Amino acid sequence: MKFLSRFTPLQIAIHLYAWSAAAWILYELITGTFSINPIQELEQRTGRHAITLLLLSLMCTPINTIFKWSEPLKRRRTLGLYAFMYATIHVIIFVDLDYGLAWSLIAQTVLQKPYIVVGMLTFLMLMPLAFTSFDIWKKRLGKNWKRLHQLVYFIAPLAVLHYAWSKKGDLFSLSGDIIRPLIYGLILAIFLTFRIPAIRKAFASFRARGLPLPPKKVTQPKVDTP
Ligand code: HEM
Repeated sequence: MKFLSRFTPLQIAIHLYAWSAAAWILYELITGTFSINPIQELEQRTGRHAITLLLLSLMCTPINTIFKWSEPLKRRRTLGLYAFMYATIHVIIFVDLDYGLAWSLIAQTVLQKPYIVVGMLTFLMLMPLAFTSFDIWKKRLGKNWKRLHQLVYFIAPLAVLHYAWSKKGDLFSLSGDIIRPLIYGLILAIFLTFRIPAIRKAFASFRARGLPLPPKKVTQPKVDTP
């Protein structure tokens, strides 16, 4: 219990989600209740956890803007690192379990399936963000650290594109498996809208108008002594 008290409820929720997702997969694998196509299922689930955690990390700023709750800002790194962890497992499953490290076959597949190229780009760009997410790099890179980490606003749409493209379906007729990636895309669009300075400003002033003004300080008039 003393150990748990070191963490805030939000921290506990984040670690619980990240590890229980992996534990659930492991449990199903051990008990033989996993899918009949385990490699594909593993690939898809790890990919979905990666993108979900990535979007959750982008949710922290809008939450702070809307509710003036600053703790999520401190949790962005944890969420981002968990997203990277699942993305790495996703890639390992692809190159090892799915393709048995047959690099020429992998190269052939990459050339045939553009959504894999997009996935690779997403992963390659996530790497420097994960490696430089620690305080020591924040200090070393100075202003460039923020610039580098703003890449996430480019990476997340790429991840959603990779997701949507990997699915069989048609975006325009909304047929096939396109609904879930579309929902991710819409959520991402809402989060990104909060990055627009004009929207943030408008929201902040709207919030300020809704809040009661602090009581005015009553100052005693100065009385001149003769
Ligand atoms: C080298 C990089 C990557 C490769 C080779 C790769 C490969 C794949 C493949 C082969 C699939 C299709 C699985 C199937 O339906 O049979 C897939 C789906 C997916 N990938 Fe990736 N991926 C990469 C990077 C990423 C990254 C960085 C993310 C997220 C941050 C991601 C998220 C997803 C998602 C969400 C799906 C769809 C899952 C579903 O069908 O429910 N991938 N990826």
